[in-house]
Amino acid sequence: MKVRKAVIPAAGLGTRFLPATKAMAKEMLPIVDKPTIQFIVEEALNSGIEDILIVTGKGKRPIEDHFDANLELEMNLKEKGKNDLLKLVEETTDVNLHFIRQSHPKGLGHAVLQAKAFVGNEPFVVMLGDDLMEDRVPLSKQLIDDYEKTHASTIAVMKVPHEDTSKYGIINPDGQVEKGLYNVNSFVEKPEPEVAPSDLAIIGRYLLTPEIFSILENLAPGAGDEIQLTDAIDTLNKTQRVFAREFKGKRFDVGDKFGFMRTSIEYGLVHPQIKDDLAEFIIELGSELNQKKQGNETTKSKKDTKEK
Ligand code: UTP
Repeated sequence: MKVRKAVIPAAGLGTRFLPATKAMAKEMLPIVDKPTIQFIVEEALNSGIEDILIVTGKGKRPIEDHFDANLELEMNLKEKGKNDLLKLVEETTDVNLHFIRQSHPKGLGHAVLQAKAFVGNEPFVVMLGDDLMEDRVPLSKQLIDDYEKTHASTIAVMKVPHEDTSKYGIINPDGQVEKGLYNVNSFVEKPEPEVAPSDLAIIGRYLLTPEIFSILENLAPGAGDEIQLTDAIDTLNKTQRVFAREFKGKRFDVGDKFGFMRTSIEYGLVHPQIKDDLAEFIIELGSELNQKKQGNETTKSKKDTKEK
C-alpha cells in the first residue's frame, strides 16, 4: 500500500523554550524566517506525502493560520508589487492539512494515538519538529522506500555520542539486513549510558503500520510517566518486524536552546539575504572572544605565578 499520510505531533509543552512557549507552540519558532514546522511540512511534501495531520495543543491558532490564506496580507503585498514576499506567503497554503487536538500532553505515544481515525488502516509517517534533516533524499522518503521493499515499520536512527543515550530512545540492533537497515531486538527509552544497548538513537522520523494504534490504546505510562511511542514500537516489534534505518545525512536538533541557536546560525550562513553580513559578524565576534579568552588566560597565569 502506498504511504500517503503523515502525522506531525505538535502538542508538547515545549518547556525548554519557556517563556517563549507560554502562549505559542514551539513548532512556530522560526529558524531565520521560517517556522520549524514549515520545514517538516516541506519534507513531507518532498517525500510524496499527500495528507498531513498536525496534532496540536496550546498555540494551535498560529499553526492553522500559518498554513491558511491571509487575503489582507496578500492584497497588500500585491498592491506594493512585493512579488517575492507574496510567493513566500502563498506557498504555505497549498497543502492538504488537517488538525486534531490532544487535550492533555500525556506523551508522544498519546499524541500519535489521536491520529487513529485519520490514518485508518494505512501505513503512515510520524515526523517530529525537534529535528530538521538534510540529505540528498529526504529522510521520510528513505523510510517510505524501505517500506515499499519490506512492508514493515521502519524507525530512523543515528549514531549519537555514548554519553548522550539517556536523551533518546535507543535500539538494541541485531545485525543488518542490508547496508544501514537493522533488525532490532528491542527499543529502550532513554537508557543511561552504562546500560544502553548501542549508540543508535531514534531521531524523530518513524514509518509505522496501523497496528501501532491498538498497542497505544492499551499502553501504560512509561518513562517520565508519559505514554511513550518507543514502548509501543518495542511491543509492535514482538508481533511484526520493525526495522531501523541509519540516517547518514545532517541532523539539526532544534529541540533545545543550544541546538536551536546553532541551527539558526548554520541556516543564516546560507540564507541569501543575510549570509555575508552574518559571516562577517561571526568572524568579528570570534576574534573578540579570542582576545577576551587570551586576556583571561594572561590574568590567570599572572595570578598563578604570584601565588607560587
Ligand atoms: P518533546 O518531549 O521533545 O517536546 O516531544 P516537548 O514536551 O514539547 O518539549 P520539552 O521537553 O517540554 O521542551 C517531541 C515531540 O512530541 C510532541 C512535541 O510537540 C514534540 O514535537 N508531543 C510531546 C506531543 O505532541 N504531545 C505530547 O504529549 C508530548
